[in-house]
Amino acid sequence: MRIFSGIKPTGDTTLGNYSGGFRQYAATQEQGEAFFCIVDLHAITVEYDPVALHERTLDLFSMLVATGLDPDRTTVFAQSHVTAHAEASWLLGAVTGYGQLGRMTQFKEKGDQQEFVASALFNYPVLMAGDILLYQSDIVPIGDDQRQHLELSRDIAERFNSRFGHVFTVPDGVYPEVGARIMSLQDPLAKMGKTGSSEQGTIYLLDEPDAIMRKFKSAVTDSGRDVRRAEDKPGVSNLIDIMAVATGRTPESVEEEYGDAGYGTFKEAVGEAVVELIAPIRTRYDELRADEGELLRLLGVGADKARAAAAPTLERMYEAMGFVRL
Ligand code: TYM
Repeated sequence: MRIFSGIKPTGDTTLGNYSGGFRQYAATQEQGEAFFCIVDLHAITVEYDPVALHERTLDLFSMLVATGLDPDRTTVFAQSHVTAHAEASWLLGAVTGYGQLGRMTQFKEKGDQQEFVASALFNYPVLMAGDILLYQSDIVPIGDDQRQHLELSRDIAERFNSRFGHVFTVPDGVYPEVGARIMSLQDPLAKMGKTGSSEQGTIYLLDEPDAIMRKFKSAVTDSGRDVRRAEDKPGVSNLIDIMAVATGRTPESVEEEYGDAGYGTFKEAVGEAVVELIAPIRTRYDELRADEGELLRLLGVGADKARAAAAPTLERMYEAMGFVRL
């Protein structure tokens, strides 16, 4: 089985990325041949700083390894090192509808926040489809916010296969049962995100323990005092999910233990669980990030493996579409 996922080197990685991303990557790498991609080409679709892109690419590689990916068995690489991604994106543009791209929620939301809306932001989901399809991926572990993009990737694969003959595996998205959408601690109706959401509501994987405790203590909760999930209690439900993710327990067992504990006690307990989760990740991250030579070497190993895996599919695409090949 082939497994693929990607993560953008923009902003500092968050507990949301851990829940929908890193945690699932480390688990799914055991299930088959896995590819995890630092999608640097996606990072340029909104206003960005070139110096920061460079640093964040190395930061993110370190974080992928610190959260459990093993670069010897799993292919961890940067998108721009494998030119097939940019080529596939152009070719797939032939089977992607303009109207479909215009309906993407993330395009609409992010476009609204930009003064200058780059055409790359509009075409972003085509590049993402190429990422996935080039590796003949069977499963794509992601958070809930990527669901629409994944469905579009499936559509693109199907349209290509029916227009030009069968080339692509049609991938399935894999979402965590709990924690597929971690919400902001300050606004439980908004996603916790690397960029755009409030600092105070966002837990970064490199936050100091006292910052984490402070953020949890000031987390917005709901009326009532029951620590139990309910539709009209988005704040408490989010905290229960976070507790479940941080400790590997089910939300039900968290509710059983803390149901009557009161919000204050519970918020502190969640903070402590997250501090404990993050502490070893931070230590490992700091060690890895200190050795840039080794990071570049490992990126090179990943790039070679990814190029070899992507090349046959790209060739089949060109051939199926009628290009003269030499
Ligand atoms: P990105 O970089 O925004 O996020 C990386 C992963 O983290 C998940 N995630 C969350 N999960 C739960 N709760 C949250 N609050 C939360 N915030 C982020 C995301 O769902 C994602 O799995 N377009 C993608 C990158 C990409 C990609 C791909 C993914 C490019 N090509 C191919 C899969 C396959 C993105 O922007 O992820």
